[in-house]
Amino acid sequence: MKISVVGTGYVGLVSGVCLSEVGHDVVCIDNNAAKVADINAAKSPIYEKGLDDLLEKHIGTHLKASTDLQKAVVESDLTLIAVGTPFDGDLIDLQYVKQVSQEIGEALKGKDGYHVVVVKSTVVPGTTDDVVLPILEKYSGKKAGADFGVGMNPEFLREGEAISDFMNPDRIVLGGIDDATRVTLAEVYAPFPSTDKVLTNNRTAEMIKYTSNSLLATLISFSNEIGNLCSSIGGIDALEVMNGVHLDKRFSPILENGERIKPGMTTYLEAGCGFGGSCFPKDVKALISHGVNVGEPMSLLKSVIEINTQQPKQVMDRLRKHFPDLGNLKVAVLGLAFKPGTDDMRESPAIPIVQELIAENSVVTAFDPVAQDEASTIFPTAGITYCDSIEQTVSGVDAVLLLTRWPEFKALPEILNEQGASPLLVDGRRLLPKDSVDTYEGIGI
Ligand code: UGA
Repeated sequence: MKISVVGTGYVGLVSGVCLSEVGHDVVCIDNNAAKVADINAAKSPIYEKGLDDLLEKHIGTHLKASTDLQKAVVESDLTLIAVGTPFDGDLIDLQYVKQVSQEIGEALKGKDGYHVVVVKSTVVPGTTDDVVLPILEKYSGKKAGADFGVGMNPEFLREGEAISDFMNPDRIVLGGIDDATRVTLAEVYAPFPSTDKVLTNNRTAEMIKYTSNSLLATLISFSNEIGNLCSSIGGIDALEVMNGVHLDKRFSPILENGERIKPGMTTYLEAGCGFGGSCFPKDVKALISHGVNVGEPMSLLKSVIEINTQQPKQVMDRLRKHFPDLGNLKVAVLGLAFKPGTDDMRESPAIPIVQELIAENSVVTAFDPVAQDEASTIFPTAGITYCDSIEQTVSGVDAVLLLTRWPEFKALPEILNEQGASPLLVDGRRLLPKDSVDTYEGIGI
């Protein structure tokens, strides 16, 4: 099938590249000419594991990039809208979605034959039918349903695993205004015959995306509330509590041969210093404000955000328990990214923690395997020294704060041992055993 993808951000580029890998002819559209030139030269504007190789493999044959949206729409059978939907604190900002809908509508005006327009961007329920569809009709002068189809196909890609998630989907959600739209959209995913597909209307497709992220975020805040309670009661370790909970066979089923399945979801049921990233905080807040606008109190999801906003304080409380005065205290921060495997620092719990340390005049050293460049755009240079290794970061410090689950941080006890040092460790991710260092503090203990 001939597919045009509008927007070459993380979702658009990964989708475009992977759709060419499964056999479609894809044109990726962006209004940024420099980005388009880079993609055509097989240089990815974003880092995502495996993306460069696939780009190199298909660019110039089944894949190309262009700034010419009109031509791409006219020459393709289906257009995916994958532009950003930033959250402005109140509503998601639909300006890019509206702009490209208008341009696609104008292109459809001069096109003969049936075309399907599909929203892939994360948009609140109702957006595809109530915002995108009318704009397409207005600027094409044509009728949705009769002359063109309108669909919604959310993505479920994790940063760092996006290529693998696209190529090995757990579900494919296909929303459409009618069967003709859904049938055309299903052809896009014909190369995934054994994957479960949900064929539905656009509103439901939009809602599935928000509900998935909101549920995962809720599990994290739930675990954090329980973890904080365990700490306050005393004599209980939330890690053991949650392990006991995970063993419920409804969470981790036991097969007939006695083997137990440990679902990935249980890793969202662990206490820590909070969730971050470009999706969970934004999507939960957007769903709350959308819900409130339609008259729902959204009390549970409001608490999910409130707990998460407070969670970095748990790390600081444990530090202050040992060092009430943070002025001139030497503090090493291990991990700045919101999760391992990415340099993304958006909404990372490390941000409020480092900002507070700097405000308190602590002497901060920090190490993250990939996020240091990104961090240097956030924190004032004078307040923090970036190091090249764990060894250098923790050398001579009073306390170590572990904020991201990078596997390499498991070497910390051995490194401290070699240095003959025993600073306080506040393990914000419960990565290390609590007996692995002399003075251990962790969330949920
Ligand atoms: C998330 C969802 O997992 C994807 O399914 C979704 O497509 C994506 O948002 C999106 O909406 O685009 P992502 O933000 O990349 O993907 O991150 P996750 O790996 O899910 O991590 C989110 C937060 O959950 C992080 O702060 C992380 O620390 C926490 N997390 C992650 C856990 O607590 N446990 C885990 O096992 C993984």
